[in-house]
Amino acid sequence: MKAKLNARNHAVAVLAVAIALVAGMAVAGEPKTPLGKWMKPNMGAPLAGQDFDKLKSSFDVVTGKPPPGDYPQWASMSAAGSKAAAAKDVAGIKASCKQCHDAYKTKYQNEFPTRSFP
Ligand code: HEC
Repeated sequence: MKAKLNARNHAVAVLAVAIALVAGMAVAGEPKTPLGKWMKPNMGAPLAGQDFDKLKSSFDVVTGKPPPGDYPQWASMSAAGSKAAAAKDVAGIKASCKQCHDAYKTKYQNEFPTRSFP
């Protein structure tokens, strides 16, 4: 009886860890600022749907609105994405998203939690 109970507790503990891991991953990808909330429908959705015209115009908006402060590569990274979208170059588009996120996502989330965008 006691052994059976322990086994069940163990299973529950494993499940709890698994849920925590999945939840943690989902939280990591959630937008933290108005910019991120804008990115989802204007960058994420057109990328998924391969809507290159929409992507190009979104990149152009981002290029034209660099955040104030220390974001020297912002506009050039986004301009490269716009070029890639015009060429329907999916790998180039994804490289632009990744470059900017790697360089600036955390910094932006910390510095501009409420900056309105666009
Ligand atoms: C020039 C910079 C830049 C480019 C280019 C860029 N992003 Fe972002 N993106 C950001 C920043 C900064 C954030 C963080 C804002 C937040 O979390 O609210 C962000 C957040 C997001 C989010 C919100 C969820 C999350 O992961 O934080 C999504 C979705 C997203 N971007 C998709 C894309 C896609 C898809 C592309 C390319 C097609 C792209 N972005 C290109 C700067 C950029």
